[in-house]
Amino acid sequence: MRAVTVVPLKAGTAGLTDLPEPPSSDGPVLVQTLAVGVCGTDLEIIAGDYGWAPPGEERLALGHESIGRVLEAPEGSGLAAGDLVVGIVRRPDPLPCPNCAVGQWDMCRNGNYTEWGIKAHHGYARERYRITPDFLVKVAPELGDLGVLLEPTSVVAKAWDQISHIGARANWSPEIVLVTGAGPIGLLAALIGVQRGLQVHVLDQVSSGPKPQLVADLGATYHHGDIPSTKLAPDVVLECTGVGSLVFDAMDAMAANGVLCLTGVSAKGRSLGIDAGEINRHMVLENDVVFGSVNANRSHYEAAAEALAKAGPSWLARVISRRVPLERWQEAYQRQPDDVKVVLQLSGD
Ligand code: BGC
Repeated sequence: MRAVTVVPLKAGTAGLTDLPEPPSSDGPVLVQTLAVGVCGTDLEIIAGDYGWAPPGEERLALGHESIGRVLEAPEGSGLAAGDLVVGIVRRPDPLPCPNCAVGQWDMCRNGNYTEWGIKAHHGYARERYRITPDFLVKVAPELGDLGVLLEPTSVVAKAWDQISHIGARANWSPEIVLVTGAGPIGLLAALIGVQRGLQVHVLDQVSSGPKPQLVADLGATYHHGDIPSTKLAPDVVLECTGVGSLVFDAMDAMAANGVLCLTGVSAKGRSLGIDAGEINRHMVLENDVVFGSVNANRSHYEAAAEALAKAGPSWLARVISRRVPLERWQEAYQRQPDDVKVVLQLSGD
């Protein structure tokens, strides 16, 4: 079968290659992949900066954001042929750490987890895969292949869940939220903020293209430029770009008892001149929290499924700005100016 694969850590090796049919040892459920979403992590893997092949293999099949249709499922699995499903990205480490042992693989402490399409297991950018039912999430048929947005939504559902836990340390009624970056992660973070009844502001660099309208149609406020020019004092900031200067500007802008959640993975080796004394003082005197959030466990996929079900399908459809058929796979991994979420279609289903 066809798959988009790379030799991890070697730039220029991405290709549409042939992979053997998925082994039965991967699980009893056989799924036909309909589409995969492309994200910054895929581009980093293609650039040779990230990624691990499965043990004993040279190439890794990409794709960790997916939507598929069940072809075969064992009786009693809760799944049946025809169901729309999304595969979870992370698997707990084989000798589970205390978090992995209780299903919190997103909080793995020893780094020995695997991630489909990223770390030591083939991903979903292949025509078929086999999997165990406990790592599949069913998607409402009404959502159709917009379910490809479930994985990125699970990442922000986790971020929001963590923000709530942190906020619960004291009496806290957040009102103003700032999301930095109006890419898919920023937009989906804003969607959940609006669904929580908060006043959401989204900041991005661009002043044209689809992003300003997508934000406005959520009922959120769009800003372009830098954080100080928004004049906001947010209770919550979701940083969705990984740009270092935004992280420090956000720390400076936050209201007292503010919570800043970092979700963007940045490139190493970028330095900034900062006044560490001033930042420390400000954080201490205002009880601020800055924390990082990655990945998602099953509870977050379920929360994400609810968020997508509540969102209008026409808004979600506009988040997918480009669909590329498998035959022209390279185009899916080449950024274009008005891209929001690009999806590679593996099957015309
Ligand atoms: C994925 C996460 C993953 C992270 C780090 C992100 O792009 O959405 O599931 O944990 O990369 O590998």
